[in-house]
Amino acid sequence: MDPIRNPYAPGAGARPPELAGRDDSLRAFDVVLARVAQGRPERSLVLTGLRGVGKTVLLNRLRFSAVQAGWGTGKLEARPGLGLRRPLGAALHMAIRELGHPDAQTVLGTLKAFVERDARPGAKPSERWQAGINAPLVVGRADSGDIEIDLAELFTDVAGLAADQGTGVAVFIDEMQDLGPDDVSAVCAACHELGQQGLPLIVVGAGLPHLPAVLSASKSYSERLFSYHRIDRLDRRAADVALVAPAAHEDAAFTPDALTAMYELTGGYPYFIQAYGKVVWDLAVESPITGDDVQAAAPEAEAELAVGFFGSRFERATPGERDYLRAMAELSADDVGTVASADVAERLGRKPQSLSPARDNLIKKGLVYSGERGVVSFTVPHFGKYLRNNA
Ligand SMILES: Nc1ncnc2c1ncn2[C@@H]1O[C@H](COP(=O)(O)OP(=O)(O)OP(=O)(O)O)[C@@H](O)[C@H]1O
Ligand SMILES: [Mg+2]
Repeated sequence: MDPIRNPYAPGAGARPPELAGRDDSLRAFDVVLARVAQGRPERSLVLTGLRGVGKTVLLNRLRFSAVQAGWGTGKLEARPGLGLRRPLGAALHMAIRELGHPDAQTVLGTLKAFVERDARPGAKPSERWQAGINAPLVVGRADSGDIEIDLAELFTDVAGLAADQGTGVAVFIDEMQDLGPDDVSAVCAACHELGQQGLPLIVVGAGLPHLPAVLSASKSYSERLFSYHRIDRLDRRAADVALVAPAAHEDAAFTPDALTAMYELTGGYPYFIQAYGKVVWDLAVESPITGDDVQAAAPEAEAELAVGFFGSRFERATPGERDYLRAMAELSADDVGTVASADVAERLGRKPQSLSPARDNLIKKGLVYSGERGVVSFTVPHFGKYLRNNA
């Protein structure tokens, strides 16, 4: 069918033509926004899930809800080994601009001090990173160098601006599991402090399934700070909507057989739905798309996933790490490869301790996570199947 009218959008963070099956999270977030703006106690949301289930696009959609509610918003993506000050500074800068408060200069000056405190010790002033904030520097607040103190002060001041306007500020942090331990701890402490004061600033996070464990290892009260939403594969009904609604916009349809075949092949994982949808649309001759069309398109869809979704991730692993991944794939039967790390070691004929570096690096690279002690899983759905067939 006409590739120009193809509605499907496989890609990291690519906005789907239809955001299916996420109404519960959207409703819950609207309640959070309304309550927090009124100074009522409320836990913020943290979205967790495997690669490609739609955390980033949902985070973006929640941000849109916040903007519609008149909130100031900003977003950052955590990166391993990268400090919080600069990206968070940029996100809050954006949020303050969105608020449009006429007297934001002092808070902007404090924000500038917070960001520029990041300069490496001993760096010459000319080498210092400039925050690019057009306001006179305000010293004495949020610039102590202790991230926990500084963040609490900064959040308090920014939230004060929003409170003044009867709205709030929402900071969205994607890949939140990649924040460094001090930064995680500071974010939790600052949210805790703001909640106690009833100030309207929330942090909305998204990350891999072990993010709740990362947060509670940092601050035991994090379970009471955040309400965790597990973002999962779509159920059959939502998966059908994700395919049928965008097609209907283009005056096209799927037969019931086609939808059944699509669900079997994609397992309801959003990335796979978009990837298959895209290929099936291009290869089908006419609407309605049939079960035969889906079967005929499957090899090409799998080939594209092998390159774009699986292969690009597998390439990040070193040869030793690849052995580890292959052993996981051989040992596991489910689609996320959950296995005991001791079994992986036995399979490879190695001592468990000698494999810890490989395992830890795979976790750092976001390919593997450990949901509970001694157990590892793939962060990428269907990764085991891919490895068994291709690697
Ligand atoms: N609810 C949904 N309905 C239909 N398609 C969706 C939905 N959520 C996400 N998608 C599609 O799935 C793909 C992956 O989405 P996204 O990048 O947000 O996943 P992610 O969970 O952030 O993945 P990663 O962990 O790799 O960052 C995109 O192509 C997006 O369009
Ligand atoms: Mg993402």
